[in-house]
Amino acid sequence: MSAVVADAPAEEEAIQSYLVTFMVRRFNPEVDAEPKWVDYDVEMYPTDRVLDALHSIKWDMDGSLSFRRSCAHGICGSDAMRINGRNRLACKTLIKDLDIAKPVYVEAIKGLPLEKDLIVDMEPFFASFREVQPFLQANSAPKGNKERHQTIEDRALFDDTTKCILCAACTSSCPVFWTDGQYFGPAAIVNAHRFIFDSRDDESQVRLDILNDKEGVWRCRTTFNCTEACPRGIEVTKAIAEVKQAILKGGR
Ligand code: SF4
Ligand code: FES
Repeated sequence: MSAVVADAPAEEEAIQSYLVTFMVRRFNPEVDAEPKWVDYDVEMYPTDRVLDALHSIKWDMDGSLSFRRSCAHGICGSDAMRINGRNRLACKTLIKDLDIAKPVYVEAIKGLPLEKDLIVDMEPFFASFREVQPFLQANSAPKGNKERHQTIEDRALFDDTTKCILCAACTSSCPVFWTDGQYFGPAAIVNAHRFIFDSRDDESQVRLDILNDKEGVWRCRTTFNCTEACPRGIEVTKAIAEVKQAILKGGR
């Protein structure tokens, strides 16, 4: 339940705070057999973010609450979590965009091993990322030993996928990834796409061969969960489709 807590000072009449109930799925592997939901009432302003609520809980109510965050501004990708059943960044989710007449449910992202509270083991996610060789591989020296030129049109081919912050919101919203932990997952494919379509790179075929594997792009069922989940607005499903087309064409 939410209720108005206090009127703001006269000169800032428009700003009111609300008591918002957060249901947080807690899990301490040292004492809990199963995760459990715990409720917290937190005073919030509409312009606060879910991350601010987690800070209030941790700093003022229960210091044992565990979650990851670093930049607090949508750049580092460390605070992806399920908020009211959708993958989002806690630092980019404003209270005014949630229905605070009901409790706000916060839990760890799915499909990766739960370590504690809102923290999952990201190693399987980063293992897939590493497997697609997400770095520029240019086998020859640039002309005149100067910079490698690229047209604006060629750069545009992979502009969208350069925006990835490796938050795992896409991969952990993918039903194929939930049921088959071997699938590379959308984030690894996005990061392969970024180099496959880079005209300066010489190893795009190596990455296409890796993704032509039985656990590669063909596992994608085009559910669009990944595109909906991406906090950077990357057209993840489109990127996966472009990689599929490149494999069928025999090159980018
Ligand atoms: S593609 Fe989007 S959702 Fe997926 S890891 Fe990158 S930033 Fe996160
Ligand atoms: S804390 Fe860095 S993206 Fe949210």
